[in-house]
Amino acid sequence: MSAPLRLGIAGLGTVGIGVLRIIRQHSEMLAARTGREITLSAVSARDKSKDRGVPLDRYDWEDDPVALARRDDIDVFVELIGGHDGPARQAVEAALAAGKDVVTANKALLAIHGQSLAEAAENAGRTLRYEAAVAGGIPVIKSLMEGLAGNDVTRVMGVMNGSCNYILTRMETAGLSYAEVFAEADGLGYLEADPQLDVGGIDAAHKLAILSSLAFGTRVDFDGIALEGIDRVSIDDIRAAADMGYKIKLLGVAQMTGRGLEQRMQPCLVPDTSPLGQLDGGTNMVVLEGDAVGQIVLRGPGAGEGPTASAVMADVCDIAKGARGPVFGFPAAQLKTSTPARAQMPAPYYLRMSLEDKPGALAKIASVLGEAGVSIDRMRQYGHDDTKAPVLIVTHKTTPDALNTALAEMNSTGVLSGTPVALRIEAV
Ligand code: NAP
Ligand code: HSE
Repeated sequence: MSAPLRLGIAGLGTVGIGVLRIIRQHSEMLAARTGREITLSAVSARDKSKDRGVPLDRYDWEDDPVALARRDDIDVFVELIGGHDGPARQAVEAALAAGKDVVTANKALLAIHGQSLAEAAENAGRTLRYEAAVAGGIPVIKSLMEGLAGNDVTRVMGVMNGSCNYILTRMETAGLSYAEVFAEADGLGYLEADPQLDVGGIDAAHKLAILSSLAFGTRVDFDGIALEGIDRVSIDDIRAAADMGYKIKLLGVAQMTGRGLEQRMQPCLVPDTSPLGQLDGGTNMVVLEGDAVGQIVLRGPGAGEGPTASAVMADVCDIAKGARGPVFGFPAAQLKTSTPARAQMPAPYYLRMSLEDKPGALAKIASVLGEAGVSIDRMRQYGHDDTKAPVLIVTHKTTPDALNTALAEMNSTGVLSGTPVALRIEAV
């Protein structure tokens, strides 16, 4: 058997403790699978006195994760602190500079500093692995990097934030407003310390940025993502979408087009019978499409102690077996700088608006749509009060530009009450 692989773990929260438990519970199995013992030399967190439910006395303690990263008795630095700057970044950079391999679950760090960290790792002849950073327990990084290595990847899609999917599902099943379910999810501890990372779509966009780089051989470009969170999704939209055979999901889509790299993370309608439409609660789903394989769908737990630690350990085991290779699939120096492209592919759209309930109001809206070249597929009008008429429209496929022209024109018709809601209907 080869020499043991010695770890240092920084961050002993949900994921860190999960990793520690796996190392303790499965040491023999891990050694048998990798051909070497996987040991833990030292750990770091903020509060040494905190009871973490696992005895830590056999491991050295470092208050400073940078000091842990530089220790001579570790081969792999496991960063489970979080945050795209501060101690996580400093410690990862220190570990690579000290010649250690690194495993992290930190999507924010990779989405913002992925390129410089990949260069640092590759220049140092080390590896940086991050299976847990995207979709928790789902082995999506391995699927893209290894399983689909023979494909020209054409599209990557997914629901990659469990908290948002929980909120949208719960709104639908309980008939509760966004504000009510948000408060409930927050109270249950389902949301990040800064909930805007979840509901603002930022966490999911971090994950999409990482997948795009792997899929298309481009530098991670988080800023190139067209981003919209779920906070504007109302129970009225959820009900209306359901009535027309759709579910609303916070959906990430990335594809390379002739104009550049299109990356978007936004609430979309998907058919309720599709795999994405049937994804309820906190579960994640990633859809990968390649020229040779066609489409594959990966589904599983996107967060939590066990699933995330499972993914961290997959990386640790790969390193134990000697796996190397570029951080984002292609050597960092060869990753292309992509031009961000706005979505131009035609798609059907869902529109919900409230009209003044007077003669000719609907005709004016239909006329504006027609003049912009937007064709109506289906329309419903119900739930009037004394003065307002809610109208739902599903368009035929149209371009975002044509739709935006129509929406701008609608404002000058004088028949709208409030701002229309427009959501893309994604073909999945
Ligand atoms: P967490 O429960 O908040 O734990 C964070 C840990 O980092 C804590 O143990 C904390 O110490 C420690 N820490 C904070 N600042 C530190 C510092 N300056 N020096 C040393 N230690 C420090 O976070 P988590 O949920 O385990 O997440 C860890 C990482 O995994 C994040 O990047 C997250 O995005 C990612 N991730 C998490 C999940 C999930 O389901 N939780 C899923 C996928 C990815 P104390 O305990 O002493 O305060
Ligand atoms: N807040 C994230 C989610 C955690 O809800 O999916 C896992 O990245």
